[in-house]
Amino acid sequence: MNYVAAPRQLVGRMEALADPIRLRLLRLLERHELGVAELCAIVQLPQSTVSRHLKLLADQGWVASHREGTSNLYRLAGDELDHAPRALWGVVREEAARWPSSRQDDLRLERRLEQRRQESLSFFAGAAASWDALRAELFGDGFARAALLALLPPDWIVADLGCGTGALVAELAGAVRRVVGVDQSAEMLAAARERVAGLSNVELHEGDLGALPLADACCDAALMLLSLAYAPQPGAALGELARVLKPGGRAVIVDLLPHDSDDARRRLGQAGMGFAPASLRALAHRAGLNGVHVTTLPPAPEARGPALFLATAHRKTTGPLAAAAR
Ligand SMILES: C[S@@+](CC[C@H](N)C(=O)[O-])C[C@H]1O[C@@H](n2cnc3c(N)ncnc32)[C@H](O)[C@@H]1O
Repeated sequence: MNYVAAPRQLVGRMEALADPIRLRLLRLLERHELGVAELCAIVQLPQSTVSRHLKLLADQGWVASHREGTSNLYRLAGDELDHAPRALWGVVREEAARWPSSRQDDLRLERRLEQRRQESLSFFAGAAASWDALRAELFGDGFARAALLALLPPDWIVADLGCGTGALVAELAGAVRRVVGVDQSAEMLAAARERVAGLSNVELHEGDLGALPLADACCDAALMLLSLAYAPQPGAALGELARVLKPGGRAVIVDLLPHDSDDARRRLGQAGMGFAPASLRALAHRAGLNGVHVTTLPPAPEARGPALFLATAHRKTTGPLAAAAR
């Protein structure tokens, strides 16, 4: 059943339109959300006049407003307007658009919007040097991680191989359908379990990188962060990673570049001294991964360990996997 506006309400709304200044204001507010001062500058009328008209329009439901900082911003009411007033506005607007004063309003609105753009540009021109510090001070860096995680397809199943205490597993759980963590250390897994307690889309398995306790082609993506270096046979571990990926599935590996810090090797409990990108690429290809791309990560200013590489690849979409993968 169509909604029928009450007579008094409809007449009130029509009366609110019976003024050229209010029609000019409505035209502007249909195109942009504007503050009173901006409206005054555009229609070139004193604030008392503009405020009075805005109040009447708001009382009759033609405009909505919200507070931003210290001022109110106004706009033409949208969904709040019923069919009849919207149809009425459509007719009136077309007529009002032909008035010379409306054309002048449009030009001044454009100028005002250009001014806004320039204000924003000049703010950032001055802030460029200090923006990173201001951003971190005001917002921290958590929101950027959240934004990047939101890029992941939400229906993905992601494996974290050598998941350790589950920091990444916990972060991923909010972004994808299911996260599967594997680690050989019962102690690390216990910490991970504590961390992900209450997350229903996480499963953790005790297992070896060289013989993962996961089915073939069960994951859309698999990560190995700082864990490949511990595998006695890195080639076999990459083969296992490829095996559990769906054809075309994404692999991301982060580990140490070649280094000569015996201190770092001891503290990390590693046998090797990092991976050369060329040998990592060759291992990954042999394991059945294609499109292997290795980049050097810029060391974080506070980081004291050896520099890291980031490798991305995907499982071959056709053909059998390499022997190491089976
Ligand atoms: C340096 S930690 C990194 C943990 C986590 N990925 C992170 O970035 O915080 C390496 C992890 O790999 C696990 N690991 C080492 N060798 C493994 C193997 N052969 N199979 C499964 N997990 C292994 C360790 O137990 C440890 O939790």
